[in-house]
Amino acid sequence: MNAEDDTLTERHITELVRRFYERASADDGLQAIFESVIDDWDAHHRVVENFWSRTLLQTDRYQGTPYPLHARLPLRPELFESWLNLFRKTALETLPAEAAEHAIARAEHMAESFKAGMFHGYDIRSRPSLGKPAA
Ligand code: HEM
Repeated sequence: MNAEDDTLTERHITELVRRFYERASADDGLQAIFESVIDDWDAHHRVVENFWSRTLLQTDRYQGTPYPLHARLPLRPELFESWLNLFRKTALETLPAEAAEHAIARAEHMAESFKAGMFHGYDIRSRPSLGKPAA
């Protein structure tokens, strides 16, 4: 798999998710959260693959609602920075360039929305990008 292939496929997405979680497992703060919630890693990877398949390939494989699942986790703003840094790096390595940009924009937008909902006093108005469409 390499990022030079410019047609996005499900295989790119599988690799994105596999490599993202491999990296996340080396980050103590993120890993502590995942470990506390995930019993079945294969099932979790499939759900996240379905999410990216729907977002990037317009399939109907994901029907969930991520926000409430995150709102009950003990997340802090810095953890979002770690998550996004790993995600950006992994997306640029594993996806064709245009798909990587799309995925990163979507992840950043979701992180902003999660933080706006979760942290009292988080100033959504300081993030004008939130007014733009997610996709
Ligand atoms: C601090 C950053 C984050 C942490 C620690 C985190 C952690 C988690 C955990 C533990 C779950 C499983 C929840 C459960 O099954 O109860 C999950 C699910 C998920 N996360 Fe995150 N997450 C973070 C940020 C994000 C962001 C920015 C996105 C945006 C793409 C995202 C997308 C998803 C999706 C799509 C699921 C699957 C939801 C479902 O089961 O329907 N996460 N995350």
